[in-house]
Amino acid sequence: MHLIPTPTKLELKSGFYYFEKEPEVKKEIKHSFEKDESYRLTINADGVFIEGASEKGIYYGETTLKQLMFNYRGCLPFLYISDEPEFSYRGFMLDSSRHFFTVDEVKKIIDACALFKLNKFHFHLTDDQGFRFEMEKYPLLTEVGSKRRASEFSREENDQNEYAHYYTKAELKEIVEYCHERYIEVIPEFDIPGHTTSLIAAYPEISCKGEKTEPETKGGIFENILCVGKEETFNVIYAVIDEMCEIFTDKYFHIGGDEAPKKNWIECPHCRAKKDELGLKNFQELQGWLMNEIAKYLKKKGKTAICWNDALKGGNLDSNNMAVSLWLEKNNKSVEWANSGNKLIVECNVPLYVDYPYAVNSLEKIYKFKPKKLKGLTEVGENSVLGIESPAWSEHIKNFEELAFMCFPRWFAVAETAWNGGSKRGYLQFMGTSQFYCDILKEMKIPASEKSEWDGNPQKTIKGLIKHGKRILTPESVVDFLRIQKNELIGGDE
Ligand code: ACM
Ligand code: ZN
Repeated sequence: MHLIPTPTKLELKSGFYYFEKEPEVKKEIKHSFEKDESYRLTINADGVFIEGASEKGIYYGETTLKQLMFNYRGCLPFLYISDEPEFSYRGFMLDSSRHFFTVDEVKKIIDACALFKLNKFHFHLTDDQGFRFEMEKYPLLTEVGSKRRASEFSREENDQNEYAHYYTKAELKEIVEYCHERYIEVIPEFDIPGHTTSLIAAYPEISCKGEKTEPETKGGIFENILCVGKEETFNVIYAVIDEMCEIFTDKYFHIGGDEAPKKNWIECPHCRAKKDELGLKNFQELQGWLMNEIAKYLKKKGKTAICWNDALKGGNLDSNNMAVSLWLEKNNKSVEWANSGNKLIVECNVPLYVDYPYAVNSLEKIYKFKPKKLKGLTEVGENSVLGIESPAWSEHIKNFEELAFMCFPRWFAVAETAWNGGSKRGYLQFMGTSQFYCDILKEMKIPASEKSEWDGNPQKTIKGLIKHGKRILTPESVVDFLRIQKNELIGGDE
């Protein structure tokens, strides 16, 4: 029997329940469960019974039933399932800035993720190469920020056509509603203070130098970031948050915080004055202060902020109202953060970034990942892990077919790990189940990858790595890498 994720407890009984078109399902909410996503599913001669801790629990019982119906036609085996997730945060992330995905494409991805009980959709809507949200108060963010002159993300496949896309508010509302019908919360990401060239292109005055620029056409890390010494920057930030919060009504709001080089701040009289006025020691602390200010603003709206682990470098992040998403770091600050009882979402680039080729993050590697086994994590730290998330960054994912290929079946493994805390059955068996659901996704017009891609033989792995290297190793990315290394050496201001 193919089920993803594997239920916590499954007892197969002898006998089958037969039905004509649809089985009769009796549902009941029971308050005796510990977690609100828990459910029990019983199938016997009298039919199908789902007891859930809440509507959400019932929904997960129905989801399991849906998977069972893929396995059997016209009948269901007698069984008893008692199921609850290890993690309340089971996330997938889509980057619609670098390459844009239409509402229908986003909905297809949501359909697939809902089928495997993922429940947090992190929507990366703003970045250097495109601001994809329809803004009213600062309309140039959309008019200017959503258009780039060309797309030059790799050395091999550059496109000199204008790239112009954004989501209207009505479209985003539709996506949020679609998610809510599937018990998926939506977490918008407004990435600040770095990765903001598209905002600065619209309003150059919110950068340190105030120089005219345009949305980036290449990938990378850019020094031109938001100026924190100017009031107008905060007017824009709060306006974006206000308008996003009208659409995105769930608890979490991601405020980015990754890859923000401090060079311009160091040279900026406004930023220097702000740092001194606040009595801060360095510019990493200034970023920590910025994230705290924004988190406070969000808290007034009843929201919890999330930021990338880069924002921990200042050591002054306010843990009250902040969760950290760990993607990459050298110094274990995220583990210390969690060990102090603060909320952590694990999205380590290896193995959880699905924009990396299968040769780097294989299906098996994701499947065998144990989020609570991060080096140095104490028991308190383990209990502070909210869950995991797997991002699909889209510099090198240009369209829906490529997206589906990269995400599936790897997001099956993410779903398994998120629900169970780690894999519960042998990998070979999981591969069989993955094949089963890849075929179902194909019927849903979601072209998952072929089995021959999932783990790669040594030859394929080397080929994949060379191909990946060729795509990501542009002169700019090498310069970025060297600059970051140098900055780490001269006092960690990067
Ligand atoms: C990231 O990958 N820059 C969070
Ligand atoms: Zn400045």
